[in-house]
Amino acid sequence: MLQKISNLMNRQTKEDGHIPLENIPQHVAIIMDGNGRWAKQRGLPRVAGHREGMKSVREVTRAADELGVKVLTLYAFSTENWKRPKDEVDYLMKLPQDYINLELEELIEKNVQIRLIGTEEGLPKHTLEALKIAREKTQENTGLILNFALNYGSRAEIVQSVKDIATKVKTGELEVKDIDESLVQTHLLTNGLTDPDLLIRTKEIRLSNFMLWQLAYTELYFSDVYWPEFSRDHFLKAILEYQRRVRRYGSV
Ligand code: FPP
Repeated sequence: MLQKISNLMNRQTKEDGHIPLENIPQHVAIIMDGNGRWAKQRGLPRVAGHREGMKSVREVTRAADELGVKVLTLYAFSTENWKRPKDEVDYLMKLPQDYINLELEELIEKNVQIRLIGTEEGLPKHTLEALKIAREKTQENTGLILNFALNYGSRAEIVQSVKDIATKVKTGELEVKDIDESLVQTHLLTNGLTDPDLLIRTKEIRLSNFMLWQLAYTELYFSDVYWPEFSRDHFLKAILEYQRRVRRYGSV
C-alpha cells in the first residue's frame, strides 16, 4: 500500500505535478458517455465503444483504489437506456457478466466491494445472476466500494422514497414532523453512502437524471474525452482539479 501511495505521489500527471493525498474525494461518481460516438468515429458498431469502455472502467477503478477513494459510482445503464435498439440493450445487459468474468478476481484481491443501485425489475435473469454472485463474493470486503448504477433513474428513486415514507406515515410508523433531509436520505438507494464529492461526466454537460438529490453540493467536472479514451491520467487530472476547488456549501 505504502509503495502504491508513494508511486502515485511521485507521479507526474500530464497536468502539473503530484496528487496531494490529503484531499482525496471520498466518493467519486462518473457518467460514462461517448462510447457510441467513439465507435462511430472509427467506423465500428456502437457496441464496440461499450466493450472498449470496460478498459476505462478498469483503469479508473485501479486509480481510485490506489488513491484511497472510498466509493466509486459508475452510471452503467439508465432507466431511459431501454429506448435504445434491442441489439444494443442486449449487449449492454451482457456487459456486467463479461466484466465480472474478467475483473472479479482482481477486485477480490484488491478488497473491493461491489454494490448496485437501480431497480432490478426489467433486468434479464443472467445479468441479475452475475451481479448477485459479484455482490455475494465481495460483500465482506472493506476496501473501495464499486457501486454500479444499473437501470437507475434518479426521479424514480425519489418517487419511491416518497412512497415509502408516505406508507410509513399512513401506518403510524412515522409522523409528518419526523420527515427531514436525513430521513429522505435514508430512503434513497444510496442509503449508507456519503454523497458524491466529485461528479465526472465525459463528453456531455448535463446530469441526465443521475443522483439529483445526492449531487446537491457535489463538484462537477466535465471532460471532452470519449469514455473509451478516458485514462488514468484523465482521472488524475479531474482529481487535481477537484483539489483546487473551494467548497463552500452555501457559506462564504
Ligand atoms: C454511454 O455512452 C454509455 C453507456 C450507456 C454504457 C456504459 C457502459 C460501459 C462504459 C461499459 C462498462 C459497463 C460495465 C457494467 C462494467 P453512449 O452509448 O451514450 O455514447 P454516445 O453518447 O456517444 O452515443
